Amino acid sequence: MKSVLRLVTVDPDERSRNALKSMLLGVETVWLEAECSRYESFMDIAKQTMPDIVLINLDSNPSRALQMVGEVARSQISCAVLVVSSSQEGSLILQAMRNGAREFLNLPIQLEDFVSALDRIRVSLGGGTSEGSSRGGQIITIAGVAGGVGCTALAVNAAAILAQEARNSPVVIDLDMTLGDADVWLDIIPEHSIRDLADNMSRLDYGLLKRSLTRHESGVYLLPRPLEMEHADAIRPDDLRRILALLKATFSHLIVDTSKVFGRMDLAVMEVSDRILLITQLDLSCLRNVIRIMQFLEHFPAIRGKVEIVVNRVGLEDCDISLNKALEAIGRSVFWQIPNDYPVMAGARNNGVPLCQFAPRSKLTRSLTEMVLQLSSPDQPNKGTEEPVRKRGGLFGLFAGR
Ligand SMILES: Nc1ncnc2c1ncn2[C@@H]1O[C@H](COP(=O)(O)OP(=O)(O)O)[C@@H](O)[C@H]1O
Ligand SMILES: [Mg+2]
Repeated sequence: MKSVLRLVTVDPDERSRNALKSMLLGVETVWLEAECSRYESFMDIAKQTMPDIVLINLDSNPSRALQMVGEVARSQISCAVLVVSSSQEGSLILQAMRNGAREFLNLPIQLEDFVSALDRIRVSLGGGTSEGSSRGGQIITIAGVAGGVGCTALAVNAAAILAQEARNSPVVIDLDMTLGDADVWLDIIPEHSIRDLADNMSRLDYGLLKRSLTRHESGVYLLPRPLEMEHADAIRPDDLRRILALLKATFSHLIVDTSKVFGRMDLAVMEVSDRILLITQLDLSCLRNVIRIMQFLEHFPAIRGKVEIVVNRVGLEDCDISLNKALEAIGRSVFWQIPNDYPVMAGARNNGVPLCQFAPRSKLTRSLTEMVLQLSSPDQPNKGTEEPVRKRGGLFGLFAGR
């Protein structure tokens, strides 16, 4: 998890103070260091605690509170001032900002607004606490061009590789609402699922979010698909985006194992993803689907530039269309090639242990590890094809002269 911002608050009204406290209980990235019920004594408390964030409620005495915003902003306490009020009066907001407030939120505070304000504050406090954390987690979507191409295998194992670094907290999100099996790969028997979140959107907080996740001993968190098939109906894209936004604020990496439907949920996730890996194998139906899917995704400006092709199980005898022929047909370069190693992959899965523990030195694990590294440092050359292939051949030529 990301490190915590320390917050002190001042609010003479006990009810709104308690409402804030119960909201903060569910927000792991903030620690309520102190609360104060009098504006007069607040500066002392702030100086003693030297918090990262000062949250001032204006409502009990706006002019006194605004004056205090100025005092805090001018003081030696290098903190961000967050002002809250039930008033939406423009002049009040303007005055708070002029006096040095960094953020203004309306009461009652919406959790998402609060989380976004925290993210901005993290950035302004000097780039967050660890690399990349200020902008929230990276979302990597793993989509397959056919069933059984290896999406779940790669999603779960990429997450486990990331979890080896203490600063990372990856979460796998299983979006195959009916038949998803990420839990099998992690040998987890989940009690809660993404359905619990979708059914409770109005009271969604970090407490509920955390209860819906299961942690594997490798350090990977899993947000499973609905437990019962009768609960597998789709989640509204807006709700899904909100779930992702909250996860992103807490976890370093969101690895999404999408359904093979390319439906509204899958597209909603792809739109907010940083990277989209389209997994294929080198056989005729897969390659035909690569072309179809790429053509389809071209219609979505928020998606098309982010799609990378990953060829899995390279060397598998059944699918040995040559890579060059395949590239010609697709008309695109390949981001990564992952070797075929069924005994190792099946062994890891059957034991419910990720590759990095089961066979850390195998060619397969090393290739996946390098790919994961490459995903977090996009400037290095990739291990797919060095040159983009622009010539587009036909699918029928695939078997000729391989
Ligand atoms: N690189 C690989 N080498 C060997 N077997 C693999 C590899 N990747 C995946 N597999 C195998 O392919 C099968 C399907 O993988 P899975 O991840 O369930 O596919 P998907 O989620 O795309 O349906 C599994 O039996 C898995 O062990
Ligand atoms: Mg799968």
